[in-house]
Amino acid sequence: MTDRPPPQPATARRSPALTGHLRVPGDKSISHRALLLGGLASGETRITGLLEGDDVQRTAEAMRAFGAQVDGAGDEWVVRGVGNGCLLEPEAPLDFGNSGTGVRLAMGLAGVYDMVTAFAGDQSLSRRPMGRVLDPLRLMGVQVEATPGDRLPLTLRGPKTAAPVTYRVPVASAQVKSAVLLAGLNAPGVTTVIEPVHTRDHTEKMLRGFGASVEIETGAGGLRQIRIEGQGRLSGQAIAVPGDPSSAAFVVVAALIVPGSDVVVENVLVNPTRTGLFDTLRDMGASIEMLNRRNSGGEDVADLRVRASELRGVTVPPERAPSMIDEYPVLAVAAAFAEGETLMQGLDELRVKETDRLASVAAGLKVNGVDCEDGKDWLLVRGSPGGRGLGGGTVETSLDHRVAMSFLVMGLAAESAVTVDDTGMIATSFPQFADLMRGLGAEIE
Ligand code: S3P
Repeated sequence: MTDRPPPQPATARRSPALTGHLRVPGDKSISHRALLLGGLASGETRITGLLEGDDVQRTAEAMRAFGAQVDGAGDEWVVRGVGNGCLLEPEAPLDFGNSGTGVRLAMGLAGVYDMVTAFAGDQSLSRRPMGRVLDPLRLMGVQVEATPGDRLPLTLRGPKTAAPVTYRVPVASAQVKSAVLLAGLNAPGVTTVIEPVHTRDHTEKMLRGFGASVEIETGAGGLRQIRIEGQGRLSGQAIAVPGDPSSAAFVVVAALIVPGSDVVVENVLVNPTRTGLFDTLRDMGASIEMLNRRNSGGEDVADLRVRASELRGVTVPPERAPSMIDEYPVLAVAAAFAEGETLMQGLDELRVKETDRLASVAAGLKVNGVDCEDGKDWLLVRGSPGGRGLGGGTVETSLDHRVAMSFLVMGLAAESAVTVDDTGMIATSFPQFADLMRGLGAEIE
């Protein structure tokens, strides 16, 4: 298990209007997939805009251990892949740190190979459920030796030949869908994933881009069937990773709640499977304009102009959860500044993120004077326009980068300062967060 470095607390204070233009780092989901598929494909994959956060670096390291050549930093990353079906057996356990996406997708990619692969992670990742990916892999013939409860650390031993499956994903999870599709790449015949709820679709899109044969059918009630033909050739691609909407979310909410703010976040991914937060904030009365909408490498991208707005509470329906699953912590912060009540429903998956995010967010709100209630899968926040009476607390982040960033955003507009007990994990997804925010005028120290 990864050693835990000493905590790095930080405090955010009520700030003057935030202004300026900025870019947030590359999308985390697309960055992982670009390295995984680039490392698998034949030939060269050139990636610009890759997120260089710790989570993605772990995936780069894992692909090196599988035999791919992964070079770069900064402007362009170059990956020379091994060719589909040709991953090598790693010499040592793969340590994915804090990264649920990295470990679950890599288990799908490599678990079905006729070899032994060991996976590990930090304290937070070792508490998260892996059975959701191990179950379909078992059906494909993989033998699993895991820590009780199907947790990390664990070892996978693949069969001589993997069995293609038809698998209905039991939870709304792009990671599970993706793991099965990636496993299907190394099984003869057609592997089918049935997805009752449409989750982020970057894996399907990118697989097609690399030349895999993927068919998608959407039936009654939005049920999607995704079929992948195994053992085909994948060829290296040029990939431009757009800005991460889940990182832009913090800047957007900060600009909405700090009076007088006017900020443009350039080059943000606006794939409709990812924009639930922006839709919800607009329902709340937020001024968010999508400027210069364009297509970049198969994904929708736009510049977001955000101006401080008076927000009103809304009810966020459970169907919206998959398109904003990582954004509830920061939505809860926006709701704390809105007039009236905001009810968020269908949040069961928040319980199994980097921490139990429903519990952590509710605790962080309460310690900062926010009137809120939470249940098994819902959160109700009663707002305090202008941030009156809010702040003054220290938030326990429990190794969760998004909890840390959300409450620092809260401190920028609350009456009293907000402290978070550790900011170290922010480097997993948004290493430049504090510097970029300070560049807009935010007081974070
Ligand atoms: C991700 C899927 C989501 C999300 C995570 C990234 C992905 O997880 O929370 O941050 O890249 O596929 P689930 O699949 O568990 O919902």
